[in-house]
Amino acid sequence: MDFLKYINPGIESINPYEAGKSIEEVMEKYNLEDIVKLASNENNSGPSPRALKVIKYFKDLHIYPDGDAIKLKTKISEVENIDSEQIIIGNGSNEILEIISKTFLSSNTESIFSKHAFIVYKLVSKVCGSKFHEIDTCDWGHDLDKFLEKINDKTRLIFIANPNNPTGTYLSHKNIIDFLNKVPKQVLVVIDLAYFEYVTANDYVKTSEILNKFNNVLFTKSFSKIHGLSALRIGYGFGNKSLIEIMNRVRQPFNVNALAQKAAIESLSDKNYIEESISQNTKERLYLCESLSSIGVEYIPSQGNFICINTKITGKNVFESLLKKGVIVRPIDIYEMPTYIRVSVGNRNENNIFIEKLEEILF
Ligand SMILES: Cc1ncc(COP(=O)(O)O)c(C=O)c1O
Repeated sequence: MDFLKYINPGIESINPYEAGKSIEEVMEKYNLEDIVKLASNENNSGPSPRALKVIKYFKDLHIYPDGDAIKLKTKISEVENIDSEQIIIGNGSNEILEIISKTFLSSNTESIFSKHAFIVYKLVSKVCGSKFHEIDTCDWGHDLDKFLEKINDKTRLIFIANPNNPTGTYLSHKNIIDFLNKVPKQVLVVIDLAYFEYVTANDYVKTSEILNKFNNVLFTKSFSKIHGLSALRIGYGFGNKSLIEIMNRVRQPFNVNALAQKAAIESLSDKNYIEESISQNTKERLYLCESLSSIGVEYIPSQGNFICINTKITGKNVFESLLKKGVIVRPIDIYEMPTYIRVSVGNRNENNIFIEKLEEILF
């Protein structure tokens, strides 16, 4: 197949994204009846009942969705205290990361991100043929001074996940402001807030203050995490109006389906559901950490709905052993953390099962 010689540069070195194993797959492979899935940082309480209801009664499958997502953008503009023109809706926040990369990255550009940060930053940089720098972390968090050292006149994008996946570390408002003050204005900083709702630290970022001060920032948020709408694929980006207008030229028409738009509006309106999910996560994250400490297992303190655990042996083997016992977590060797596994915070029963099985394997 001679044509395969001509794939775009960068693509040959890509390993396809490996999603977490599905419950059905593990049930079938290991002949199990009960599975605990703590692999993909989902909201195990499910979506908001209001979001579910609106989907249940939806009939207009024959009509294209609103390509401009006007109602959803109006809702988001209230929540974020910004104008609708500052918002772009994506098929998951992944699509926003892809759109921003298509907008700015090419063979003659560079991007910067942490060595242990969300894998999609590397993926989209490679697809666009861009060079990229993976920066060593400091205590598993983004080392922003080292980011600054890598900036040159080819730098177009900097990706920062806050809190970071997979490490769970976070940057404070001051960390981000100090950094942005030093970043040249021609470099766009993408701040990925997929897990922001889970943060309990009180010095966390205030997006509107940042947007008022800096034009070269794009924030991204997801409906896949606390909103429990991963299956519908919806997320958004927000920033400067001129930036969003340009990104909308790259976005495909009708990129976000009508069910997702409706469910997202309902979910944003269901404040009780979000608050309950936050307090459940805060309580269970603490419980998981205390349980890990009590069995003598090391972990990275997390502000997300997941925790990185140092198994001190090969994480992939621990992952396989847990699978056989009906617990799905995530090995994170792709993040160059070969002794670690990442576990999502579940409910009390799920967390207890995980701890029990982990203890059986490690000790
Ligand atoms: C840091 C981070 N950003 C973005 C995403 C993408 O989320 P989605 O495309 O489902 O909105 C994820 C998914 O795991 C993530 O961990």
